[in-house]
Amino acid sequence: MSEQASRTYPQPENPRSLRSVEAAAKGCRACELWRLGTQTVFGSGPRDADVVFVGEQPGDVEDREGEPFVGPAGRILDEALSSAGIDRSRVYVTNAVKHFKWKPKGKRRIHDKPNTAQVAACQHWLELELRLVKPSLVVALGATAAQALLGPKFRVTVDRGKVRSAALAPRVVATVHPSSILRAQDDESRHQEMAAFIRDLRVVKTLLSET
Ligand code: URA
Repeated sequence: MSEQASRTYPQPENPRSLRSVEAAAKGCRACELWRLGTQTVFGSGPRDADVVFVGEQPGDVEDREGEPFVGPAGRILDEALSSAGIDRSRVYVTNAVKHFKWKPKGKRRIHDKPNTAQVAACQHWLELELRLVKPSLVVALGATAAQALLGPKFRVTVDRGKVRSAALAPRVVATVHPSSILRAQDDESRHQEMAAFIRDLRVVKTLLSET
């Protein structure tokens, strides 16, 4: 039995309704992160989206607002989507892990990377989202999402921007996480990393226009 199958999850009233699955996810206790985060931050966007973007986990702002990618990383994502000509309102965004994992630093709550067991525990919800939205393409943002979809050996640095197929989605393209652009050492590297991110999203745009 897989690690995921041995856990129990709240059952949605209507398994074919995304809103019902979201409501069930609010009560998830499959790992201990529910104690740390303010709330479950489920995916957001149109149910008939052609493309789903998967990040790592909600950040501090997302945890408080209950919506994915509405903080600083979300602003980078929005800017890159707009530069690549992808309509943000037609995109479904979600995360591999749906609670904010953080550690205290002074008065701040800083990001703490989810571990393999926490990503595995949350895979159930990602799987349900992908099964219901049925996008033609999934974009993994960063290593956590890429490895959740494509396996632990996947390296974003080596295979970014290439189409892969996965058990959870027929076509997956991985690229960097927008937070990595925020962490760039200086303006020049930030500019270069943003340009490379937009290039990957242009590949996504081309793949979407072919379907
Ligand atoms: N980083 C993520 O991976 N997801 C969010 O929703 C916000 C920041």
